[in-house]
Amino acid sequence: MSLLSVHDLTVHFGGVAAVDHVSFELQAGEILGLIGPNGSGKTTVLNMLSGFLAPLSGRVRMGDDDITGLSADRLAQRGVLRMFQMTRVFSRMSAFDNLLTAGLARGVSERESQQRAAALIDELTLGPVQFLDAGQLSGGQRKLLEFGMCFIEPPRVAMLDEPFAAVHPVMREVMAAFIRKRHAQGSTFLLVSHDMPIIVDLCQRAVCMNAGKVIAAGDIHAVLKDHEVIEAYLGETPDGDAVPSLELTDSPREKP
Ligand SMILES: Nc1ncnc2c1ncn2[C@@H]1O[C@H](COP(=O)(O)OP(=O)(O)O)[C@@H](O)[C@H]1O
Ligand SMILES: [Mg+2]
Repeated sequence: MSLLSVHDLTVHFGGVAAVDHVSFELQAGEILGLIGPNGSGKTTVLNMLSGFLAPLSGRVRMGDDDITGLSADRLAQRGVLRMFQMTRVFSRMSAFDNLLTAGLARGVSERESQQRAAALIDELTLGPVQFLDAGQLSGGQRKLLEFGMCFIEPPRVAMLDEPFAAVHPVMREVMAAFIRKRHAQGSTFLLVSHDMPIIVDLCQRAVCMNAGKVIAAGDIHAVLKDHEVIEAYLGETPDGDAVPSLELTDSPREKP
């Protein structure tokens, strides 16, 4: 069943189509990868799906409801939550209190929020820093904290923008385990990432964008073998040359 249905989504910046008639389906319970080279429009798609940018045209449906252009607050009330490429936490509040506040803001009782916050602190290995101001945490720890804030009340859809970028491999694995566990419990994810090994590990399906357009979608292995996808990442491959496999390389050319 489709949880989110994206149809012909388009937005222009200064006359240039940053997102150009993008359509795809997000199935309930899946982790859908949204991949593509830098500047291909992935963050802009997330901005529109999460209510931070109004599309010029196109439709987004959630089940039977048209949710096109709803504000981020309204979407959050419907369980559409988004994590940012640049982490957003309250830096002068302790890690624990950030979680508590996130729970209260989502209508969870204080007692329940405290219990969930404590469990998330453990799961996210933030115990040693839980009473430090969030501003004192490392980038990776702040990302983990943001995961906790997002999941203190499980969302219907979690949209993650480059959660693994510039994060220590140990914390990256904590994040991946967190996503796997929530996925096993039925959570739905839209995951933007350059990290091909992690995308292959976590996603069965992916949508690949280039220059604002969807150039391939479907089974992750098929998408990564697609000629247009490989060319988008690596540039032109001369005719007849063996085409390198994206699955064996670690995000060529891309900086996180
Ligand atoms: N607020 C903006 N104003 C003007 N151009 C933008 C803005 N946001 C993104 N762009 C442009 O839109 C294109 C897609 O950007 P983005 O969605 O950030 O790509 P990605 O996340 O795939 O790296 C890029 O060419 C980028 O420069
Ligand atoms: Mg981006």
